[in-house]
Amino acid sequence: MTDSTIESILQEKRTFPPSADFAAAAHIKSLADYQALYDRAAADPAGFWAELAQQELDWFEPWTQTLDWQPPFVKWFVGGKLNISHNCLDRHLATARKNKAALIWEGEPGDSRVLTYAQLHREVCKCANALKGLGIGKGDVVGIYMPMIPEAAIAMLACARIGAPHSVVFGGFSAEALRDRLNDAQCKAVITADGGFRKGMAVALKPQVDKALANDAAPSVEHVLVVKRTGDAIAMVEGRDHWWHDLQPKASAHCPAEPMDSEDLLFILYTSGSTGKPKGVVHSTGGYNLYTHMTLKWAFDLQETDIYWCTADVGWITGHSYIVYGPLSNGATTVMYEGAPSAANPGCFWDVIEKYGVTIFYTAPTAVRAFIKMGDEHPNARDLTSLRLLGTVGEPINPEAWMWYHRVIGAERCPIVDTWWQTETGGFMLTPLPGAIATKPGSATKPFPGIIAEIVDLDGNPVPDNTGGYLVIKHPWPSAIRTVFGDDDRYRSTYWEHIPPKDGQYFYFAGDGARRDEDGYFWVMGRVDDVVNVSGHRLGTMEIESALVSHPAVAEAAVVGKPDDLKGEDIVAFVILEGEAVPSDALATELKRHVVSEIGAIARPGEIRFSEALPKTRSGKIMRRLLRNLAAGQEIAGDTSTLEDRSVLDKLRGGA
Ligand code: WTA
Repeated sequence: MTDSTIESILQEKRTFPPSADFAAAAHIKSLADYQALYDRAAADPAGFWAELAQQELDWFEPWTQTLDWQPPFVKWFVGGKLNISHNCLDRHLATARKNKAALIWEGEPGDSRVLTYAQLHREVCKCANALKGLGIGKGDVVGIYMPMIPEAAIAMLACARIGAPHSVVFGGFSAEALRDRLNDAQCKAVITADGGFRKGMAVALKPQVDKALANDAAPSVEHVLVVKRTGDAIAMVEGRDHWWHDLQPKASAHCPAEPMDSEDLLFILYTSGSTGKPKGVVHSTGGYNLYTHMTLKWAFDLQETDIYWCTADVGWITGHSYIVYGPLSNGATTVMYEGAPSAANPGCFWDVIEKYGVTIFYTAPTAVRAFIKMGDEHPNARDLTSLRLLGTVGEPINPEAWMWYHRVIGAERCPIVDTWWQTETGGFMLTPLPGAIATKPGSATKPFPGIIAEIVDLDGNPVPDNTGGYLVIKHPWPSAIRTVFGDDDRYRSTYWEHIPPKDGQYFYFAGDGARRDEDGYFWVMGRVDDVVNVSGHRLGTMEIESALVSHPAVAEAAVVGKPDDLKGEDIVAFVILEGEAVPSDALATELKRHVVSEIGAIARPGEIRFSEALPKTRSGKIMRRLLRNLAAGQEIAGDTSTLEDRSVLDKLRGGA
């Protein structure tokens, strides 16, 4: 975040109440209604969620205990049995939704597909049977490494249907990153495509899978299922690799949904933290189903006729919760788009909105800022009058971008729903309910009913209004992370020990700094740990440092974020070279390329700074705070008395 952003957030005073028309037609119609729900939930969270779980979901068997909280481990709807694929598909077939569009898909080259609920159900059942035919069953983890095509959603739902947890790996990750994730989760199969289309080009995927599996480097993987998308020539390994288009037509369209225990593992999704390799965030079935369902319904005021479009990739939590599970559980029409705006196609998003009459549009501040740069003429040339609500996620939205979104895209008519949440939270935590809560540009407003959020100091004491502190959650919610896959200790130390429990009160530590204003609105300021947020993508500085030091020319590296107008933050890497290596532009380019091949293009450093030493404390800890100041071209702020060698700073300044 830039200083000017912080400045404008601090000074932002405007509020935007919902229009009377919007409020009158909304699920939650007034601040009093919100407050009543909030109070009811706060007084008895388990009772509140139990009532909604009963009303909103189908259960094969009822639960015996709503909440089992043995800090820091939580279970919801213990003993209940359900299947999220049933809740997303089968239960709609007996209603008027049977032939309603479930998934509208727009391919980048201009091809498109619409799948009704009945058709999507059929495809999911077939895929589920195809997986069974490969020997995949309940409890087997399946890797999904896909472009944004309907088969990605079909594969996820098929896994859920047979009780095989999925682990979706974003298609932009490198073969190395894919291999690590396949190994960590011990995936038995991988579902992929030959490639996908991105910014006018075919991007290969199956060759990355081949690379990840080469030399038996991911030995748990027995099968690879491949969708033909680009038609590019790829190698198929006899016995291991299978074409989707060979298996799918042969598979039966009859596949009853496996009754899953509410706490059975639904999926693993890897995300970055401040230490070590990415963590496998574990989500289970019942609570996740309920929470994604309710949050989408109330925060986006989902109605039967909405055409809802979330521009995220299914490789991220936003794609899981709010392209696939949340919308389909609600019986909504969800739009999926393969492309991304580029200089060659600056109006492509607005074309999709116009073509399908999108009513709810959900994107990221980084995209909004890119659109501002591309010019108002692109949205202005399209009919966007179908829109009735706009959403944002991924990073704090600067008030300038908020106002542009409100004015140019929303025509001052659409509420802006700024949703703060995380891979670990599964669903929205802080968000306006748009018929009830007046918005303020840059604030995610208030906690969703049932969420007890607080801003505290490191001792767990609440800080006064308008004072910065740590954002914590004080009561378990249904879609909370259950653990880090295979590593309960890491789960405990990452989320529950930064702020130690006090008098039986546990604090879920989100890793974000925030303040609350005098109206009870939360203002999330950004990460307080060693995580950078580049274009809404979360990356651990340590992962990038490890990638850099794996290059033979690099002895040591320290990575920090630097404020960037477009991306929010950009990556700056301070690099100390090995003995013989000499700094050069060519080497800087080579190192950037190396990070891309180790992690993926989202982790490419914007800047490499060669230096002779790094500022360290006497105990050898890199003082990142000072590097952040240097990277941003700011004066060194705060205390430098613990610095071991003060001349390092002068050298770094000179070298920069
Ligand atoms: C940031 C994405 C401010 C925050 C759903 C969080 C936000 C991290 C917002 C999670 C928002 C997300 N306002 N910051 N509306 N939404 N963040 O796991 O730092 O990819 O901790 O989940 O993104 O990123 P993740």
